[in-house]
Amino acid sequence: MLGPVILAASRSDKMRRIVSAAPVTKPVVDRFIPGETVDQVIPIVTDLTDKGLEVTLDVVGEDITTVEQSYAARDAYLELIGRLKALGLGTRAEMSVKLSMFGQALDEGHELALANVRPVVEAAAEIGTTVTLDAEDHTTLDSMFAIHEELRKDFPQTGCVIQSYLFRTEDDARRLAANGSRVRLVKGAYKEPASVAYQDKAEIDKAYVRILKILMAGEGYPMIGSHDPRLIAITQDLARRAGRKLDEYEFQMLYGIRSDEHLRLAAEGHRMRVYTAYGTDWYGYFMRRLAEKPANLLFFVRSMITK
Ligand code: FDA
Repeated sequence: MLGPVILAASRSDKMRRIVSAAPVTKPVVDRFIPGETVDQVIPIVTDLTDKGLEVTLDVVGEDITTVEQSYAARDAYLELIGRLKALGLGTRAEMSVKLSMFGQALDEGHELALANVRPVVEAAAEIGTTVTLDAEDHTTLDSMFAIHEELRKDFPQTGCVIQSYLFRTEDDARRLAANGSRVRLVKGAYKEPASVAYQDKAEIDKAYVRILKILMAGEGYPMIGSHDPRLIAITQDLARRAGRKLDEYEFQMLYGIRSDEHLRLAAEGHRMRVYTAYGTDWYGYFMRRLAEKPANLLFFVRSMITK
């Protein structure tokens, strides 16, 4: 029951100010967002890759209001890619981007976001890696998929995310599986209305399995973005039945969540990629992590009370 309330708060400027200013927030934030600068996140990346894990990096930020902010987002990714290049980490670390941070919701936002993300995709390709377009709320997805298709003309490795809670996703999965795309499948982290999305957890999980079957049987590269032990076991089974080798799909989990499982799957020979977010504009990302697991919120509230 708490999840939807927290997700509503994730879009509130007032709550953003209160939560961001609370001194007790920072230690809880650090669990999920292990740095605010490139300098702080690079050691995390090397630590993860030294352990045999792959990484996808997200410079946190969304819902920007000016064109200048969209350029700053682009430049932050370009700086990051430059650092990865210097360290020779290009093949181990991908980028994940939110198009809203690249200006998608501003006037002429579709074109602006495409113009901003293209140089990032080009720079990533130059160091032997790629970019995945995160899925945000359902109103943004037609634009996201159009940008994905456009980028794939020159950079076919560009990935995108689909969310099993949306009714539309089975159709999207069929299209993406047929055209050979890299696709991250997640359950979905935004507050969506019943007109477009399943509200019941069991329905979302069932849809996840149906979509997983489509991706595993298709031509693309499935990226399983989930911490759910049941879905991980089902993935392994479906991959075997589809005759996929271990390098023909991968698991992805968020930094700070089920870290032992990251190592266990990697030790079994799976490609395991850790989604690692960093930056100063962490509020939206942090609130979605609280909404996913009420225990996180209780921990947060307890630390506020006992301080
Ligand atoms: P579920 O929520 O059922 O959790 C299964 C178990 O995992 C829980 O019982 C708990 O043990 C653990 N767990 C899950 N979330 C936790 C948390 N926050 N804190 C502590 N433990 C937790 N969404 C989206 O809409 N667009 C996107 O682009 C992405 N991108 C993305 C990338 C990657 C790599 C991952 C793993 C996830 C996303 N998501 C996302 C988020 C996704 O939609 C979803 O909200 C979370 O992954 C939680 O769902 P699970 O599949 O883990 O299952």
